Amino acid sequence: MNISKSELTKAYQAIYSDSNSPLRYFFAPGRVNLIGEHIDYNGGHVFPCALDFGTYAVVASRTDNQICLYSNNFSQDGVYKHSLNEVINKISAPRWVNYCLGVIKHFIDHNYTLPHGLNIYICGNIPTGAGVSSSASIEILMALILNSVFAFKINEIELVKWCKEVENNFIGVNCGIMDQFAIMMSKPKQALLLNCASLDYQYANCSLTDYTLVIANTNKKRTLADSKYNERKNECDELLAILQYKLGDYTSLAQIPPSLLSQSLSSVTDDTLQKRLRHVVSEENRTLMAFEAINANQLLRFGKLMNQSHLSLQHDYEVTGFELDTMVNLAWNFAGCIGSRMTGAGFGGCTISLVENSQVNRFINEIGSQYHKHTGLTAEFYITHPSSGAHEI
Ligand code: GLA
Repeated sequence: MNISKSELTKAYQAIYSDSNSPLRYFFAPGRVNLIGEHIDYNGGHVFPCALDFGTYAVVASRTDNQICLYSNNFSQDGVYKHSLNEVINKISAPRWVNYCLGVIKHFIDHNYTLPHGLNIYICGNIPTGAGVSSSASIEILMALILNSVFAFKINEIELVKWCKEVENNFIGVNCGIMDQFAIMMSKPKQALLLNCASLDYQYANCSLTDYTLVIANTNKKRTLADSKYNERKNECDELLAILQYKLGDYTSLAQIPPSLLSQSLSSVTDDTLQKRLRHVVSEENRTLMAFEAINANQLLRFGKLMNQSHLSLQHDYEVTGFELDTMVNLAWNFAGCIGSRMTGAGFGGCTISLVENSQVNRFINEIGSQYHKHTGLTAEFYITHPSSGAHEI
């Protein structure tokens, strides 16, 4: 799925006419979370890896103060121009422009002066709005471009935090730090166990030998996903406040050990909040067990944890829905699949399955046609391998 530099150069030149400027090339992947869902903003562990597809940019310096942005994925929007002499405000549309503007604004707000304008050509092969982080990919891409082109030398983790803040404060989604972190810090053939409270991280070998990671895009549009996402975050904040008041000491929900779950549940009267708590505590524990299982090459055990994660997201966290549940149920009934779950925020989007190498084609054909029969939707499948984080090409 790689796009070569010569293809990128041609595409850039078809949009911008400054054919003599030196060009620089950047890439930021998408990400998939193996397990640890809706845990990052609850201060626990997540276990994502970068995809081998993502967002590319070709960049040239300008002599004036204009930042010009063009995305081939949204060619109908044309070239968006922003003058660095003007204050940056969120625009009503298009959304991809806001991701770029938000990052530029964040640099400026932190007293990094952009000395001149840029021409930026963007293109990518991440399905948008499918839960594999096309938005964080473009944010990290933009941060990497500014940091490299203007030689600011800001450290990568700082950029990760900035991009999360852009998503929270400029875009208005109260996401955790997982996506931006995975997109910046991933390594080939490794998955990344990240402690979202301390930002300590470690890698686990994820070569998966006889198995392949298959992502299935349900093509169910994630309408209302942002507001539902924020609703879950608010429920968890409310839960934490209740538990801190009654039990003291906790700084995050994911800190509550499974041994204290029933005691904690008895401090919460609301049924919905009880379910949310059960998900967070059990998912944090599953994520740590999944890390152990991958390290011990116990993939069957890992697959079972994926299945349990989905059930918890379906019944306790209630972020799945008919299409995701159908896709996962079909995968569970497929003999060569050892684990399957929804991935990302949910409410539509993608599932991830671990499938025996020899069965991948059959999996895609059979599950695709059965899914279509059940839902009337056409799914898309992507085979992926854990890959490297954002970099200059
Ligand atoms: C989205 C958010 C992440 C994370 C996941 C759910 O991808 O951007 O921060 O909360 O949902 O695990």
